[in-house]
Amino acid sequence: MASAAVTSFIVFTPFLFLILNSSTAHYIPCSESLVEIAQGKNISHCKKLTTLGVEFGWEVSKHDERQVDILVSKRLNNAEMMWLAWGVNPQVRPQMVGTRAIIGIRQLNGSAGARTYNITADTKLGCRLQPSEIDVQVKNMSLDYVASFDYLTLHATIVLPSSYNISRLNHVWQVGYGAQGAEPAMHPTALQNVDSTETIDLKNGSAQHVGGFARHLRKVHGVLNIIGWGTFLPAGVIIARYFPYPLELGAYRYHLHVACQIIGYNLGVVGWSIGLWLGQASKDYKFKVHRIFSIFIFTFTTLQVLALRWKPHKTDDYRKYWNMYHHFLGYALLAVISLNIFHGIDILKPDHSWKRAYVGILGVFGVIVTALEIFTWAKYLTEDKEPKTSPGPGPGPGDPKPGSGRGC
Ligand code: HEM
Ligand code: HEM
Repeated sequence: MASAAVTSFIVFTPFLFLILNSSTAHYIPCSESLVEIAQGKNISHCKKLTTLGVEFGWEVSKHDERQVDILVSKRLNNAEMMWLAWGVNPQVRPQMVGTRAIIGIRQLNGSAGARTYNITADTKLGCRLQPSEIDVQVKNMSLDYVASFDYLTLHATIVLPSSYNISRLNHVWQVGYGAQGAEPAMHPTALQNVDSTETIDLKNGSAQHVGGFARHLRKVHGVLNIIGWGTFLPAGVIIARYFPYPLELGAYRYHLHVACQIIGYNLGVVGWSIGLWLGQASKDYKFKVHRIFSIFIFTFTTLQVLALRWKPHKTDDYRKYWNMYHHFLGYALLAVISLNIFHGIDILKPDHSWKRAYVGILGVFGVIVTALEIFTWAKYLTEDKEPKTSPGPGPGPGDPKPGSGRGC
């Protein structure tokens, strides 16, 4: 089995690198609306940030490199209240804790204002976040709602101390949907909200996104898991259940079942290992439910696959109890796998095609199982009416025909 895992890893490594190599620092220009707003404020550089639909405009002063005009913006999309935050972080990497932020809050009554805040480890623990002085000089701070474009814009002029490097500036952005006065409430913690950091070169706009590499791996992780756990394993279960009866495939059925489970398990384990690596790499946040389900899936599928070696012999007395356990665990695993795949898709929030594709796979399995169940019962009922050639009860649906021999 170890050799099979190694083989599938070798087969998929070039594929992974092909995808990973396409990861380049990107500069997607702002929307036309924001370019228009930015021009009105004499800001000529503007790009879409990688998450949350936030756009970022900036202009480094010609006289003083440390003075930068910034414009952070997001379409409101009917949100009645919203806070919009942007900040710089002098530490080695861009992250929430340690960020010197400007937060603009639009209140329920439509009034808007912006203040400065120090985001500390206590903020992350849930302590109140109140306005405070920051070590970055901020002038002309304002939050405006541009009704004609439905945009909320946060504008300011900042003067960075010498500890910041404008060619490698760690900046962080965030949006939230609640506040009490000048205190913003916790933001959502979807992937988009925790991926909202990058290191930007303000001279040319190129950026290193912390998750740039990880973003590609996440997709590879999702695809491998959907194919491995989500497609091959259920296909193997269908083969095990219906191919001795009503579809008689003899010994091929057992080999086909085992092949599906081994391929599915190996692809799944590679996908799972990538998930573990991703979880390890993103220490600032975690997805507990997804992780717990994953541990369950890995542990018990491994136990199922070990059946290849350690299942009781056909003549053993307790073989029928082992069969019951193996089948029950198999079905339970399919349910948990399906839940975890939907949960993974919810975390990743790729475009709708992923959910549609997986629902499509489930739909195809559903149709196959329904057709085979109907066929099984029809065959079983017609066979029952025929005179029996041998004594003893006839086969039940999904049971092997006498003599066909269930392999597992
Ligand atoms: C209003 C008070 C805030 C609270 C209570 C809060 C709380 C949190 C928590 C608990 C996480 C971890 C989520 C997880 O483990 O899945 C997190 C992550 C994060 N938050 Fe906040 N946050 C607040 C404000 C902000 C602001 C104003 C910014 C941006 C300026 C921000 C940026 C981030 C980022 C980028 C992450 C990703 C992980 C990291 O870099 O540490 N947060 N926040
Ligand atoms: C049964 C199938 C799956 C298993 C066993 C699995 C396993 C894992 C594991 C072990 C982690 C690390 C969790 C942590 O340590 O916090 C993880 C993270 C993750 N998984 Fe899955 N996963 C599955 C399906 C999916 C699918 C289908 C998707 C998306 C389409 C997905 C998206 C993600 C994302 C976005 C993360 C977070 C990565 C990060 O922290 O940067 N997963 N998964």
